[in-house]
Order: sequence, then structure tokens, then C-alpha cells
Amino acid sequence: MSSPSAPTAATGPSPLSGHALPSYLDPAHLGPWGDYLQQIDRVAPYLGPLGRWIETLKRPKRSLIVDVPIRLDDGRIAHFEGYRVQHNTSRGPGKGGVRFHQDVTLAEVMALAAWMSIKNAAVNVPYGGAKGGIRVDPKTLSLAELERVTRRYTSEIGLIIGPTKDIPAPDVNTNERVMAWMMDTYSMNVGETATGVVTGKPIDLGGSLGRREATGRGVAIICTEAARHIGLELQGARVALQGFGNVGSVSAKLLAQAGVRTVAVQDHGGTVYHGGGLDVAALTAHVAAHGSVAGFEGAQALPSDSFWDVECEIMVPAALERQITEANAQRIRARMVIEGANGPTTPAADDILNERGILVIPDVIANAGGVTVSYFEWVQDFSSFFWNEEEINQRLAQILRGAFEAIWEVASEHRVSLRTATFIVACRRILHARELRGLYP
Ligand SMILES: NC(=O)c1ccc[n+]([C@@H]2O[C@H](COP(=O)([O-])OP(=O)(O)OC[C@H]3O[C@@H](n4cnc5c(N)ncnc54)[C@H](O)[C@@H]3O)[C@@H](O)[C@H]2O)c1
Repeated sequence: MSSPSAPTAATGPSPLSGHALPSYLDPAHLGPWGDYLQQIDRVAPYLGPLGRWIETLKRPKRSLIVDVPIRLDDGRIAHFEGYRVQHNTSRGPGKGGVRFHQDVTLAEVMALAAWMSIKNAAVNVPYGGAKGGIRVDPKTLSLAELERVTRRYTSEIGLIIGPTKDIPAPDVNTNERVMAWMMDTYSMNVGETATGVVTGKPIDLGGSLGRREATGRGVAIICTEAARHIGLELQGARVALQGFGNVGSVSAKLLAQAGVRTVAVQDHGGTVYHGGGLDVAALTAHVAAHGSVAGFEGAQALPSDSFWDVECEIMVPAALERQITEANAQRIRARMVIEGANGPTTPAADDILNERGILVIPDVIANAGGVTVSYFEWVQDFSSFFWNEEEINQRLAQILRGAFEAIWEVASEHRVSLRTATFIVACRRILHARELRGLYP
């Protein structure tokens, strides 16, 4: 008879036989997390002995769900659901944006956090991956209510964020002003000014020159590199953009400088088209004044579904996830799709585009310019020494070009898509770090 404390041989089912899906997710509604899991499955054959760690990537390290109650301007109390997910921190602190959107879910934030792990490793910045969000439509809030939501949310997730723990940044419907409130709230709670707790801040609060434009600049840099590889002349090429916020509008502006004509733009309010090229500066001013591209005078309005039929050389989805699906991937007429948004293409649509010979440049490299300059911002905050914009743009271009070339080589070597190649590069780095650190305890 064994003593009560002695280990006994397991007689039940193996602890390894359980499914990787966490019990708190509904398998029927995985959304982008399901897409991410499929992408991870595709990289598995290329990981060699590191593959034994792959389950690490199929579950987030830490997920925090918070209640965000605020007093509305009319005195009523409203509650919103907030999240902060740290997917992986093997290579450094968590890093990733905060999204305010009425449809945000835990599964979506998990996927966005996971893609941040991949992206940060792909460009080799010393971060893990994280993401946050609040289920709220900020358009329904006054400025004062928006500030209260932001501050209460920041305070609630203050348990797990910090300059060396997890550093949020802007994403859909959040901007410099929101980052300033987050920085101030965190600083008030810890009793010192902690500029390094968020990136994407206003310049006067420790923000970095070039950060606001960095994601769009990265899209333009990667577009130029990819065009060179496939022999596409950018001068006179046409681009169709979905999303005309931070990422979409800056991408259009910088691509225009390379001679690319923006022929179609779609946002949440409408779709506008001009075969000869839209006036990007005028469209940007129109959106600033009216909140959407809808009603822009220098263009023809299109029904929203017609966006996918627009003749162009380059398509840039720069809005939300799961926009390019099996339903429209056959119709896309571009030579390349550059993912400004995170997760805009489902795996099934990805396959269709690949079969059709349309080059897909995945989000995890195409939109990595933002986090790269966020990294510069964080470094500048720590050293309290700020660089000029030329230095920042130059370093950004150097990092993105180097990362893209390495990914292109891996894609050619293994005859895989650029997405799988980026995952190969990134997962090897993450899992190697995991292996070197060892498993605690
Ligand atoms: N801001 C960054 O630095 C950054 C970095 C990397 C990736 N991204 C990703 O880029 C995408 C856009 O982010 P952003 O910062 O430009 O956000 P943003 O809030 O500035 O702009 C979002 C744009 O998407 C449009 N949009 C929303 N719903 C839409 C719909 N159903 N159909 C068509 N258009 C719709 C909006 O009208 C707006 O033009 C997101 O996927 C985000 O995660 C952003």
C-alpha cells in the first residue's frame, strides 16, 4: 500500500488527450481565434524539435475580463465589458493596442493578442503579444464619458499593465488623446509619471515623432518591396482601400507619393470610386469633417459589395477582421493584397487568393510599422532622449525591409505563403525563447 503522499502511476486518460480549446470559448463562435488556430496548425510542420512547445501558442498566457462602470452625463450608470489579454510574454513584456468597438469579444481580443506575439517576433522587437478592448461604441459617448470609460478601464487593467509588464497602444477607435488619459490614469495610480506605460501618446507627453503615420508608412514600405519582387511598377498602379482611418488614410497618402492612384475607398459609412484617382488630401479632409467617406463630392458612390470587384493592382484591407472571405475572394482583381488590418483574410480566402496567384502580404509583417515605432517610443521614454523624425523613419524602413527579405527567403525555401513564412520565422523565435527560459517551476 502506498503512503498518501507518494506519487502514484496515473491510471485514467492521459492528461495530453484533452482538447486545446479553452472551456470559456464557444467552439461554434471562435471568430478570428479560429482563424489564428488554423494559421498555427499550418506552421507546425516547420518547427522541428521546437514543435513540442507549440501548445503554448494555442492558449493565451493571461486573460483579464473587467467590468467598466461609468456615470453617464445624464446621471445614469452604464456598464461595459473590458478585456486585456497577454497571449505570450516569452520574449518580453506584452505589447498591443486597445480597441473600442461594440462588437469586441474575448475571442477576438485573444486573436489580436496572438497576432501581436507573431508580429513582434517577426520584426524582432523584444516584446510578447497582448491586446485589449472594450465593448462600446465610442460614437455614442460624449467626450467626458469617453474619458471616464478610458480611465476606469485603465484602472481596472492596471493590475497587469506597466512599462515593463504590458504596454498598450492605439487601435480601432482609440488615438493619442485616449493614450494620454491612459498614461495619466496609470501614473496617478502608481504615484509617478510613467510615460512608458503606453505608446502612441501625444508628442508633448513622451510620444514619438512618426508614430501616428508609422503603420501606414510600413504598409507603403512593404508594398514597395513586394512590388519590386513581383515586377509591379508602382507609378500609375491602382489601389483600393477598405478602411480610411489611421492606417488606411496614411497608406493612401504615402502610396500616392510613390505614384499609386487610390481608385476606391470603403469605410463604415460608404464606398467611393474614381477611376482616375481620388484626391486623397481632399478625402482625408472630408472624413475629418463628416466622419466617413460617404458623400465625398469628387467621386462616384458604389454599393458596398461592389468594392470587391474594383479593378486595381493593389488591395489594402485596413478596417476589421474577416473581410476577405470565400464569398468574395474569387472576385478580387488585384495582383497583391496588403493587409493593413489585423486578420482581414480568413484561411479559406487565403487559399483561394494563393491559388489564383494573388500575392497576400500578411498583417503580421504588413502592418508591423506601428509596433516598430511604438518600440522606438518606449525606448525613447526610458532613456528620456528623443530622436528626430528622419532617424525614426530610416530605422523603421531598415527593420521592415530586413524582416521582409528574411520572410521572402523562407517562403521561397519552403515554397509556402508569405503568411506561413512569417509564422515560421516568428514561432521559431518565440518557442526558442520559451525553450531557453525553461518551464517554471
Ligand atoms: N493604428 C495602428 O497603429 C494599427 C497598427 C497595426 C494594425 N492596425 C489595424 O488596422 C486596422 C485599422 O485600424 P486603425 O487604427 O486605422 O483604426 P481607425 O479607427 O483609425 O479606422 C478604422 C477604419 O475602418 C473603417 N471601418 C470600420 N468598420 C468597417 C466596416 N464594417 N466596413 C468598412 N470599413 C469599416 C472605419 O470607418 C475607419 O475608416 C485594424 O485592424 C487595426 O487592428 C492598426
